[in-house]
Amino acid sequence: MKTELFPVIKFYKKVGSTNAVACQFLEDSAFQKNFVICAHEQTAGKGRSDRNWHSPISGLYFTLSFPDQIFPPSITLFTGVVIHKVVSSVFPELIFSIKWSNDIFVNGKKVGGILTSVNKAGTVIGIGIDCNFREIPDHLKEIATSLLIETNRKVVLKKLLKVILKTFEENFYLFNEKGFLYFVEYFNDHHYLAQKRVLIYSGEKQLTGIVQGVTDEGGLLLETEHGILPILSADKIDIIT
Ligand code: BTN
Repeated sequence: MKTELFPVIKFYKKVGSTNAVACQFLEDSAFQKNFVICAHEQTAGKGRSDRNWHSPISGLYFTLSFPDQIFPPSITLFTGVVIHKVVSSVFPELIFSIKWSNDIFVNGKKVGGILTSVNKAGTVIGIGIDCNFREIPDHLKEIATSLLIETNRKVVLKKLLKVILKTFEENFYLFNEKGFLYFVEYFNDHHYLAQKRVLIYSGEKQLTGIVQGVTDEGGLLLETEHGILPILSADKIDIIT
């Protein structure tokens, strides 16, 4: 399972959040090399904008950890490209898309998410994929799904993790060398929001417009009544029909 890029992989039965465990290890300088924290279950899984990440047993939850390294914000979009490539090859019967900036979608619902955090000890990239469970809490039923629900097929979690780590590694060298520029066309070709009219929530502010694509730096280009604006972050994006 270990790779050149990730020489240390730690598995846990249950943690609060793999991102929190990884950050603690970073702060304690527990490992000098990159490492991965993976758990069968999370009791306090974190999503973006302080949301919870539903993390029952039989999902895939892991955090890629890079001591003393800082990446451009497009690392999250790059990671989305990697996850998209892997799930599309493992489940060729499904059409997946990537919703800027960090969601993996299938059949109009979210099936995976990415949460990157950076501090002075390094960078962690947390990835959650809803795999082998059918139960989705009532308040998420309209917006979230799982691979099992969509395919009736279970995936071997360790195998999926192994392919993700390998694919991440293969593409990571290109990301470092050429930047997100090398991946932006792939992202735009599989972008869930492409040409959609959206409502963007950012703090107290809201903005509507039509999504024109993603830039080489990973920003979202929004055509608004004031012209085309680059959006660098958002708390939530809804499609308006
Ligand atoms: C999002 O879409 O809001 C991001 C979800 C990220 C969830 C993953 S699961 C593994 C890692 N540990 C966490 O607590 N969060 C990330």
